[in-house]
Amino acid sequence: MNMEPLKNTMNKSQTQEVVLVDEEEVQELKKSLPKATFMGSNLQLVKFEGFWCPPSLNLKNVLMFRRNFHARDTDLIIASLPKTGTTWLKALLFVIVNRFHHKIDDSPLLTHHPHELVYRLEKDIYGEAFTYPSLHHFNELPSPRLLHTHLPYASLPKSIKTSQCRILYISRNPLDTYVSQLNFYPNVIKKQMGEDFQLPCVEDFFEDCYEGRVPYGPFFDHVVGYWNQSLEKSEKVLFLKYEDLKDDAISHLKRLAKFVGMPFSSKEESDGVIQNIIDLCSINNLKQLEVNKNGVLNKFFEKNTFFRKGEVGDWTNFFTPSMVEKMNKLMEEQLWGTGLSYKLLSH
Ligand code: A3P
Repeated sequence: MNMEPLKNTMNKSQTQEVVLVDEEEVQELKKSLPKATFMGSNLQLVKFEGFWCPPSLNLKNVLMFRRNFHARDTDLIIASLPKTGTTWLKALLFVIVNRFHHKIDDSPLLTHHPHELVYRLEKDIYGEAFTYPSLHHFNELPSPRLLHTHLPYASLPKSIKTSQCRILYISRNPLDTYVSQLNFYPNVIKKQMGEDFQLPCVEDFFEDCYEGRVPYGPFFDHVVGYWNQSLEKSEKVLFLKYEDLKDDAISHLKRLAKFVGMPFSSKEESDGVIQNIIDLCSINNLKQLEVNKNGVLNKFFEKNTFFRKGEVGDWTNFFTPSMVEKMNKLMEEQLWGTGLSYKLLSH
């Protein structure tokens, strides 16, 4: 379980095992990479290995993650684009995996934000928030370790691909994902830049989305990368959709528990354990918990901003019919032949 905060427990000789990344190397690399403005602010997205690395993530930490992470066969790694339901999946997975240690009314989820229970590799583990000595503590975490990444499949460290560890990918229809980003990132940018940041107009933001200039985007490259892996290696990669979870949480929780090797017993089913987990992890429940109301994660992320509406179809309140048509067309082109689709109901 990942409940314990990472501590500085590494001694000098152990520190030397970490392959550090030289700041000069990062600066040199950055110079050669394409850049784009982020939501009309002075902050920049940097395109690395085909994906847009957001300003809140230092490229150095991506490299640190890549060079140092050794997956265990028992690791369970959530992967996602931002704003596709990561927080929800973290909560669900944490409770499912730890259900024999913690009763629902004694769940660590009642006193910790989901992001404090499932660490993000390129940010929490290999980021500035924790010093490198904390990696020792991380390496000592008991199995199964619950971890998370926003990186596309192609950019993951080799050991994730070659080990038996499992990946749980959550995706969401692009328009709701973008609406959620539009509501989330301005707050993060303000924290980084100060209060004078002006909200981007929806037209400009939509254009960025259409061109794939969003954190960890292009959207379809990210999604298709994991989708293809889930088809090729269904025992290794589970592909989930936010909309399906909303629609039929019980079936999907069963699927999830089975995938991680901890299926619900008939007794658990008849005792209502699945429904109790769904209720504990519901947005309305998590939103009202004191621990999720105040405070900041990783300097720029207000805890409460991870819980907004949690609905399907909020995009109808933001995008015009012509934008939706344009996105639908792009989606058809990008997903053609993959077998993957997202329902976008019309206005
Ligand atoms: P909205 O902005 O559309 O409300 P992520 O966790 O990947 O950052 O995604 C955040 C989105 O998931 C937000 O969507 C948020 O409200 C929603 N969300 C957070 N917790 C949720 C939960 N327990 N159930 C359903 N949706 C949730």
